[in-house]
Amino acid sequence: MKFFLDTANIEDIKKYAQWGIVDGVTTNPSLVAKEGVDFKTRIQEIAKIVDGPISAEVTEASADEMIAEGKEIARWHTNIFVKVPMTPAGLETVKALSKEGIETNVTLVFSVAQAVMAAKAGASFVSPFVGRVDDIAYDGIALIKDIVDVFQKYNFTTEVLSASIRHGKHVIDSMKVGADIATIPPHLFDSLVSHPLTTSGLASFAADWKKFQAK
Ligand code: E4P
Repeated sequence: MKFFLDTANIEDIKKYAQWGIVDGVTTNPSLVAKEGVDFKTRIQEIAKIVDGPISAEVTEASADEMIAEGKEIARWHTNIFVKVPMTPAGLETVKALSKEGIETNVTLVFSVAQAVMAAKAGASFVSPFVGRVDDIAYDGIALIKDIVDVFQKYNFTTEVLSASIRHGKHVIDSMKVGADIATIPPHLFDSLVSHPLTTSGLASFAADWKKFQAK
């Protein structure tokens, strides 16, 4: 199971990469816009910190424009996965890019049918949005499980990237149903690491050690 950071914030990427648990990074236009920085510069900065797949999303709408934009983005760094929306033009783009050996991540996936279409077009990753599915009272983790099951049944090599993660349980449940990757907002890593019994256990070890040293 790989953990990606779902952010374009460079300080967060540096912080969590130091923990040794970051296998890649996903960004989207909203996350980059929030940082108010140049897109290409930021993607290249991220690629210097994390040696793994870095998703950078196209913003054009037609297939021809998306293909040209995707080829340009792919030139920025060898670890780039071009993120493409789940639309007919997006599928055309995935097919064209994958033919040229460019890795892709199909985003905004909300059904098994969409995931299969993306896989058939040659996507390297599909990104079903767990949290946004839960937001509308459907079951995001059940969607991940269904996609994993269908991909296994038909031997698709496309990896399932659990996206739109809202809390630690989404991460654990994604692992339980067999997602290949979870992309996680930075602050959630703190909740995945901390446990009250670790904190209290450490405090009592430190107190006992202090008493022993004072003897
Ligand atoms: C995935 O790659 C997306 O960037 C992200 O997970 C979207 O999550 P959100 O629903 O929190 O915006």
